[in-house]
Amino acid sequence: MFSLLTIFSILFTLSASTSLADSLGSKSNAGYNIHAVLVAGSSTFDNYRHQANVCHAYHVLRNHGVPAENIIVMMYDDIANNPENPFPGKIFNAPNGTDVYAGVVKDYTGEEVTPENFLGVLKGDKALAAKGKKVLTSGPNDHVFIYFSDHGATGLVGFPSDTLSSDDLNKALVYMHDNKLYGKLTFYLEACESGSMLENILPDNISIYATSSTNSEESGYACYCDDPKIDTCLGDEFSVAWLEDSDSHDITKETLEQQFKDVVKHTPSSHPQQFGQKSLDSLDVGQFQGEKAGEIHSPRRHPKSSVNARDVPLVMLKRKIKRTNDAAEAAVHAKKLHTLIAGRRFLESGIKKIITQLCSDGYCSDAKQVMSTRRPLVNHSTYSKVAKKFQSSCLNLGIHTHGMKFMYAFANLVESNNFNESTLNRFLEDLERVCNNHIVDHGFKAIVLEKYLAKSVFALKLNEID
Ligand SMILES: *[C@@H]1O[C@H](CO)[C@@H](O)[C@H](O)[C@H]1NC(C)=O
Ligand SMILES: *[C@@H]1O[C@H](CO)[C@@H](O)[C@H](O)[C@H]1NC(C)=O
Ligand SMILES: *[C@@H]1O[C@H](CO)[C@@H](O)[C@H](O)[C@H]1NC(C)=O
Ligand SMILES: *[C@@H]1O[C@H](CO)[C@@H](O)[C@H](O)[C@H]1NC(C)=O
Repeated sequence: MFSLLTIFSILFTLSASTSLADSLGSKSNAGYNIHAVLVAGSSTFDNYRHQANVCHAYHVLRNHGVPAENIIVMMYDDIANNPENPFPGKIFNAPNGTDVYAGVVKDYTGEEVTPENFLGVLKGDKALAAKGKKVLTSGPNDHVFIYFSDHGATGLVGFPSDTLSSDDLNKALVYMHDNKLYGKLTFYLEACESGSMLENILPDNISIYATSSTNSEESGYACYCDDPKIDTCLGDEFSVAWLEDSDSHDITKETLEQQFKDVVKHTPSSHPQQFGQKSLDSLDVGQFQGEKAGEIHSPRRHPKSSVNARDVPLVMLKRKIKRTNDAAEAAVHAKKLHTLIAGRRFLESGIKKIITQLCSDGYCSDAKQVMSTRRPLVNHSTYSKVAKKFQSSCLNLGIHTHGMKFMYAFANLVESNNFNESTLNRFLEDLERVCNNHIVDHGFKAIVLEKYLAKSVFALKLNEID
């Protein structure tokens, strides 16, 4: 039986929440506009899902009333009309889903999808704007929503032919804060090891709330990988989880915290994290994704057949080989599979050799230990310099994304060496020399082609990659 006190407190709660909803519900009362930046950092058909996620995000925002002119989209745009796409001109983010490509206004495509342009967009860069490119024009009260989807590594996320470091990203966010380019900002980040882009670096007092798809050590997972016609994954677990949550709820009445909990529930293969000013998670999702109640649609589909994001190309080639009855076609796929596996093995052993040599140069005592442990990344600025050196003198991680998997080893060295400026500079020189010894001069592509493609295409047993 209800006591009077209970009834009284229920009445009080109802009236309090109603007036709160009233004051926040209308944009004119709230006094801010919503601006958004949506980025897919990859290219090629194997990475279909990142652009599918971003197109879907565009429609979530539009469906909730965010004006098209306030949304900035960066995507390579090589999926819809890719020769491998069985549905030319269309992109799907779920099996039997709707075409999410239709209606998306793209602002940066192809070679314009770079870390520099992304940071320029965030900082409202005047030079970009002068060239007629869209940049954020948000002001001190406005709400900014940023969503990024791609491959990642310790303290890095990918772009089609480059990477962006945690240090550079967080500097841009702090710049935005110091220059009053937002009132409140929410950042959703999908990438392997994406927790490491924000952990020990994103301040908790600059009105930024961020969530990452994974913690700082684990891979992310692609989902919807079993479409019978499209030989790739259509989405990623974390992204599909928030996008379908927004599609299937009234986001003007759902808090960021509720969305996060729902996302955790629907991201079974990794551990999404929250960073920054976590108290902002009591705000409604609609304050960042649009305040129009919007159409509530898309009954939830549960991510099926999740695949480690790093293994999507392997799994898809294997599937194509198993499925075809055409020996010639199987041979073509098998050849590609060999190249892929050979390249991965070459990289893995190359990185091990690099670490071994750096140990004998005095930067570590036991290469095996460096490769088998993970120290949390704290010194992001020093790591960023090391990662850039690796990127420029060893391997372009934006293109050879598999190399990302091993970058934790360099974070270990940064954290264990306690460099000062002169020892860091010496390390960077040594790294370049060691890279020349073990990766660059060994002609990565040539080795792969020579050593493995000459062999019989069926020499490699398919179960080797299970
Ligand atoms: C997609 O549609 C086809 C044919 O309409 C149906 O057989 C299949 O079960 C559907 N798949 C999903 C995942 O809903
Ligand atoms: C945030 O906290 C840090 C560390 O306590 C402090 O140095 C900085 O000035 C604070 N920034 C703002 C905007 O309050
Ligand atoms: C940097 O560290 C090295 C080795 O610990 C030391 O010999 C050197 O004096 C230091 N340099 C500076 C500028 O502190
Ligand atoms: C990071 O390393 C640099 C040297 O590369 C050093 O000067 C700086 O103090 C370190 N920062 C932190 C937070 O440890």
